[in-house]
Amino acid sequence: MSNTFFQKDIVSVRDFDKQKFEEVFQATDKIIGMNQNERRELARGKTLGYLFFEPSTRTRLSFESAMASIGGTSIGIADASSSSAKKGESLADTVRIMSLYSDVVVLRHQLDGSSRFAAEVSETPLINAGSGTEEHPTQAILDLYTIRKEKKRIDGLKIGIVGDLKYGRTVYSLLYALSNYKVDVRLISPPALKIRADSTYEIRKRLSYTETTDLEESLDDLDVVYVTRIQKERFADMEEYVKVKGSYKIGLELLKKMKEDVIVMHPLPRLDEISHKFDSTPQAKYFKQAQYGKETRAAILALILNEKGI
Ligand code: CP
Repeated sequence: MSNTFFQKDIVSVRDFDKQKFEEVFQATDKIIGMNQNERRELARGKTLGYLFFEPSTRTRLSFESAMASIGGTSIGIADASSSSAKKGESLADTVRIMSLYSDVVVLRHQLDGSSRFAAEVSETPLINAGSGTEEHPTQAILDLYTIRKEKKRIDGLKIGIVGDLKYGRTVYSLLYALSNYKVDVRLISPPALKIRADSTYEIRKRLSYTETTDLEESLDDLDVVYVTRIQKERFADMEEYVKVKGSYKIGLELLKKMKEDVIVMHPLPRLDEISHKFDSTPQAKYFKQAQYGKETRAAILALILNEKGI
C-alpha cells in the first residue's frame, strides 16, 4: 500500500475516505507490534512542534508521548499566553516560525478555520489538534480505531452520540468519519444542543441518523454509546449553559438498559456525564480510547514523516 500521508497536512476528516482510515489503522497495528528499537527508527532526528492556544491534556501529551515513542523529540507552546502571541504576534507568524524549527506542526486554536489557514502558511505538514467548534480529526481517527478494535468492525453498528452536539468538535469529526461506513447513528441531545443546521446538509447526504432527546429510551439496541461533555466555554450566555448542564448522566443504573456488549466511549475530559463508578465496568472504554490516542498519533506522525510508510 502506498503512503498517501507523506508530508501531508491533516486538517479535516472530510479529506479522508475509508481507504485512508484503513492506512492509519494498519500502521497503528504495525507500530503496536514493533519492538522498541524498530519503533524508535520511525522519527529518529525529527522534531514535532506544538502550538496550543486552548487547554489540552490528552491531545498534547499523547502527541508528545507518541513522538518520543517513535524516536523523535517535541518542542512547543502549551499556553499561548507565555508566547509572543501575548505581545500581538499573528497566528501566521507564530505558525511559520514553529514550522522553521520542526518537521511537523500540531495546532489547537479556538477559531474555526484556524488550521486550514495555518496549513497554508506552515513550511512543514500541519496537524489540526482542534479548531474551534469545527473539527478534531485525530480524535475521530482514534475513535474509529477504538470502535474497530473493541467491536471488531465498524460497518453494521448502531452508534449513539450523546450530549453537546452543537459545540462539540469531536462530534463533527466523528460524524464525517462515520459517513464512510454503513452505520446507524442516533443523536441524543437537549433540543438546544442539536447538531448545527449548517452541518446537517452535508452529513445527511452520506449518513443515516435519527435525533432524540430521550437517553434512557434510546439505549437498548446501541452497540456504541459515545458520550460528550457540555462545552461550557463555548456558550455566549451562561444562563443557557445552566439550563442544559447535567442533562444526561450515565451511571451503573443505566447498565440494565443497555446491551451487555455495548461499549461506552468519551473523548474526555468528562465532568459528571459519566459517573466514576462506571469506570470499572467492562463496558467503559474511554481510558482505553485515550491510550489508543497515543498509538494512532504515533502512526499518523510516522506516516507523515516516512515516505515509504511503516
Ligand atoms: N479529547 C481531547 O481533545 O482532550 P484534551 O482536550 O485534553 O486534549
